Amino acid sequence: MLNPLLRSFSAHFGESVKPRIFRAPGRVNLIGEHTDYNDGFVLPAAIDLYTWTAIAPRTDRKLVVFSQNLDEAAEIDLDSPTIAARDRWFDYVHGVAAMLQKSGVPLPGANLAVYSNVPLGSGLSSSAALEVSVASALLAASGQTLELTEIAKLCQRAENEFVGARVGIMDQFASCFGSVGKAILLDCRSLEYKLLPLPPGVAMVICNTMVKHEHAGGEYNDRRAQCEEGVRSLKRAFTAINALRDVTLVQLEGHRSDLSDLIFRRCHHVISENERVLATVEALRKGALGDVGCCMADSHRSLRDDYEVSCRELDVLVDVAGGLAGTIGSRMTGGGFGGCTINLVELGAVENFKQKVLAAYKAATQIDAEIYISSAGAGVTEVTNDD
Ligand code: GLA
Repeated sequence: MLNPLLRSFSAHFGESVKPRIFRAPGRVNLIGEHTDYNDGFVLPAAIDLYTWTAIAPRTDRKLVVFSQNLDEAAEIDLDSPTIAARDRWFDYVHGVAAMLQKSGVPLPGANLAVYSNVPLGSGLSSSAALEVSVASALLAASGQTLELTEIAKLCQRAENEFVGARVGIMDQFASCFGSVGKAILLDCRSLEYKLLPLPPGVAMVICNTMVKHEHAGGEYNDRRAQCEEGVRSLKRAFTAINALRDVTLVQLEGHRSDLSDLIFRRCHHVISENERVLATVEALRKGALGDVGCCMADSHRSLRDDYEVSCRELDVLVDVAGGLAGTIGSRMTGGGFGGCTINLVELGAVENFKQKVLAAYKAATQIDAEIYISSAGAGVTEVTNDD
């Protein structure tokens, strides 16, 4: 992977300087969907698909960024006062640079080349992988360091304040804190986390619907607003609450008549999903894989019916997977409206799973799905040509 990136770096910027290279992973979320921005719990794992950023200094005040995937370059003027997002891939780079500068990191001019094998826009956090690898590269170029938690928060701010997507902290956190063979139980309020070994003999199988429905961004921000509306209404009865994290299902049921049906269902998803994350962690600790599967199935149903962020293609994949021997659990993963499902599958059943899912999905949708078998991988790191 590194050689092609180094070649395109030299082709663009000359061979005189050897760049440093930083690699950040995408992520898959085992359970805990749309809970992060409600101060709740999530259980993601970094995957072995990555974005690499090669960087070397320039003498002027520009960032020149070349995307190997898109064969396209962009220029960012570090002194430009008129910084605005342009709805393009380099917004993520620009946003990260802007947030680093805002937090007092003195950025030098630099040449950057980026390459990613995280499928773009498919719910596996290609944007967080880009942000985190670029942030680490820019920090190195400026001779500064930041704690990983601060890097994750800064990359989230780049997306919230610069790109305009009100995402939570899960993706950036997973890209920073990924650990080989482990899932990350993250408390999105305190940012305390625990690493949890994935069960032996089980593969993480990611199925890509290959669709991304267009309204995804707007719908995501709408869901956040609906959760906030729920908190405002429930706060009249429970003054101490600050987020849906603080509300129990019993409290929600008790105040059902204070909420519209839609807001009730949104809140019901979030509150029940938090419980499912904790139940999944318990089940994983006990090796009770049947219970893990039930939590994943309930999560998918709740996302489909109460939170309404699934789509036909995701439902088809989950239905097909659920009927196959060796499937432990299956659900949509990430923001929804297309993208991927995460499936826990017994190792010996993976080949059959792949063939059956590809055929049934094609028959139902006329689309060729893509399937990635991933292990849980490491978080952001500097790499050398030998890695
Ligand atoms: C996207 C966001 C995350 C999270 C998920 C849904 O991936 O970036 O912050 O909200 O959707 O769980």
